Amino acid sequence: MTPHMAYAGNDLGLEGVRLSDLAARYGTPLYVYSHSEMEDRYRAFKLPDRENRLTVCFSVKANPNPAILRTFFDLGAGFDVTSAGELFLAGRAAQAAGNSRTPAIVFSGAGKSSAEIEMALKDGITMLNLESGAEMERVAGIAARLGVRAPVSFRVNPDVDPKTHPYIATGLRKHKFGVPWKECLALYEAARQRPELEVVGVSCHIGSQMLSIRPVTDAVRRILRLADDLRRSGFTLRYIDVGGGLGIRYHREHPPSPEQYAARLLGLTRRSSLHVIAEPGRSLVGNAGLLLTRVLDRKTNRARRFVIVDAAMTDLIRPTLYGAYHEILPVRLAARGRERVDVVGPVCESGDYLALNRQLPRANEGDLLAVLSSGAYGYAMASNYNGRLRPAEVMVNRGEVELIRPRERLEDLLPFPPDPAR
Ligand code: LLP
Repeated sequence: MTPHMAYAGNDLGLEGVRLSDLAARYGTPLYVYSHSEMEDRYRAFKLPDRENRLTVCFSVKANPNPAILRTFFDLGAGFDVTSAGELFLAGRAAQAAGNSRTPAIVFSGAGKSSAEIEMALKDGITMLNLESGAEMERVAGIAARLGVRAPVSFRVNPDVDPKTHPYIATGLRKHKFGVPWKECLALYEAARQRPELEVVGVSCHIGSQMLSIRPVTDAVRRILRLADDLRRSGFTLRYIDVGGGLGIRYHREHPPSPEQYAARLLGLTRRSSLHVIAEPGRSLVGNAGLLLTRVLDRKTNRARRFVIVDAAMTDLIRPTLYGAYHEILPVRLAARGRERVDVVGPVCESGDYLALNRQLPRANEGDLLAVLSSGAYGYAMASNYNGRLRPAEVMVNRGEVELIRPRERLEDLLPFPPDPAR
């Protein structure tokens, strides 16, 4: 449970709005986000930043809903993007806000296409985090053709173990990300020889859902040493991009708070006087969102008891993909016993589950359940597999409710949906 979530009587609510009312109005499965929770998390990152030396670039991949991007933009954030699509969404969010602030946008990702690089340069990207020497050459070529200078850094692979799930660790030597620690100086030298490139920083990202600050500080120490070396050989750097990766509480974890995390990074980089860019995704939105689902059926075979709900791995794939734990709460408390169940969806895969072997209050057909901590990598990883329609999304803000994405319609499954205007 997060501070903005509470039972009023027997009914679970978010920012004072009853979840059962939202289910009745918008149907299920439904993603519900708390605006106040996102605000609190963003402000917590900025709390220790009295010198304004930290720019929080929300990692769009965690949740690309335009209303969520807009929320962070309005609070002062920039964006971390990894594709033309995310760059487009970030730009739109800033435009929709209608103020003149240009957000800081950093572009990280192995395998940027030429079209994406061109779009980023035309959009006035803050920094392209380069992944290889070949990518550097390509960026220089495109910048020359466009007649611009490309602001770049290299994403350094610091070979630090983030101690997280192997699928979401990225900063070890064996991973595809970043350039090897030892090759960095030579690559920076090569970049300096290209007038189309402006070397503006150093960057890294070592993994996600980290529950200790230590791996990040180890990585940052390493890239600070690189920054020192670069400065000594005459580079003028502006940014140190520390990536994302701060974990959240899904079950019994005790991750550092965003204040602690930011304070530590600011302290560590103070002497360098570099401007710090952080790319948090999950830690800003993960606990701000929940997935509301309704029980469709119950079933018992000799070995197991199943609660079949209308949300599936197509709505929230994290349990299936990573064995991730998401807390599940009844939306209405009832005086019934508890039971051990698998909470499963309607998709034709045995791996389609939201919880396995979980002790829950008995849930009957028609009851609503809330799957917590689903704000990050939830809707973002949803799919149409099994002909399923992706759910609607709503944002709750101090009692106000806004539909921020309608539920998909059957026509959306067609490759060429009929044009409603015709
Ligand atoms: N920056 C870069 C370069 C990244 O690759 C990522 C995430 C982030 C920032 C944001 O990381 P965060 O602060 O959210 O940990 N689907 C997985 C997570 C994959 C993360 C990929 N990269 C999951 O559901 O756990």
